Amino acid sequence: MNNVSSTAQAARLFDVGGRAFVVTGAASGLGLAIAQTLAANGANLLLLDRDEDKLKETAATLGKAATLCVLDVSDASAIQAAVDEFTFKRGTVDGVFANAGVSGGPGFGTAMGATLGRLQDQDADHWNQVLQINLLGVLHSMKAVIPAMKQARRGSIVITASVAGMQAESFVSYAYAAAKAAVIQLVHQSALELAPFGIRVNGIAPGYVRTGIANGCLHDPDVEAGLVRRIPLGRLGEPHEIQGLALLLASDAGSYLTGGLFPADGGVLLGTPVSNPSTNSLS
Ligand SMILES: NC(=O)c1ccc[n+]([C@@H]2O[C@H](COP(=O)([O-])OP(=O)(O)OC[C@H]3O[C@@H](n4cnc5c(N)ncnc54)[C@H](O)[C@@H]3O)[C@@H](O)[C@H]2O)c1
Repeated sequence: MNNVSSTAQAARLFDVGGRAFVVTGAASGLGLAIAQTLAANGANLLLLDRDEDKLKETAATLGKAATLCVLDVSDASAIQAAVDEFTFKRGTVDGVFANAGVSGGPGFGTAMGATLGRLQDQDADHWNQVLQINLLGVLHSMKAVIPAMKQARRGSIVITASVAGMQAESFVSYAYAAAKAAVIQLVHQSALELAPFGIRVNGIAPGYVRTGIANGCLHDPDVEAGLVRRIPLGRLGEPHEIQGLALLLASDAGSYLTGGLFPADGGVLLGTPVSNPSTNSLS
């Protein structure tokens, strides 16, 4: 196969041109990177975020393909109204990236978390706030697209989970880890229910990606140095490194993928590297 035809085949497989996607938490970090790749590949987007200023900045970089709505994902009726309007305009909704999330504070393994993030420090009101966004926000986003997807008998739902939902992680808060474990089960449970309707549900499980989460602490060189030792690829991820996976799950290239949880973690789930070239010279 020559280069031209293999390029054409790849373009066809991953084509999202003209399709309609909803992205939550689209103003920053991973949501922004997902929105950028979908827009660059010709999709129409409904971008949801609670940060109005950043959302407007995002939209300016994406052109006419993006419709914006400032809302909090814990508000089920606001999401439903925004998705209904978008679906009505576009005639359908092909996918949703339920991505918005917050860190819920430091984990017990961090300097601040050593006195704030222990099990004995856990507070029910605080948990409620985190779960309203990181768990119920995902549920509301999924429910909003289901009627149109069932009618169309197709659709792709992609949830941003975390490696922190899969293994113990002292860097993140208890409420965050619990919410991420819960959304992973939401992927499995809903994938089973929705498969007969042609609706695929998958999860992305990032490791440590340099975004605005946790007050931007992943941009702090000291924090980075502490984490890098635990990452087999020897570096933090960058938001754009999620784009290929997002496009795979959104497009027909992922047509037989459902109920999957796809780590994008530089190998974090493999365990601490025995030896890392960034900290130890190997011959
Ligand atoms: N960055 C990482 O290392 C990492 C690792 C694992 C999982 N994740 C997950 O990735 C997702 C995206 O986070 P990110 O790292 O890009 O962080 P980020 O802070 O850069 O982006 C999150 C976006 O979500 C928005 N948001 C937060 N709460 C909201 C709410 N209630 N309603 C509407 N919008 C809201 C924020 O305004 C922001 O634009 C989150 O679910 C996060 O848990 C991130």
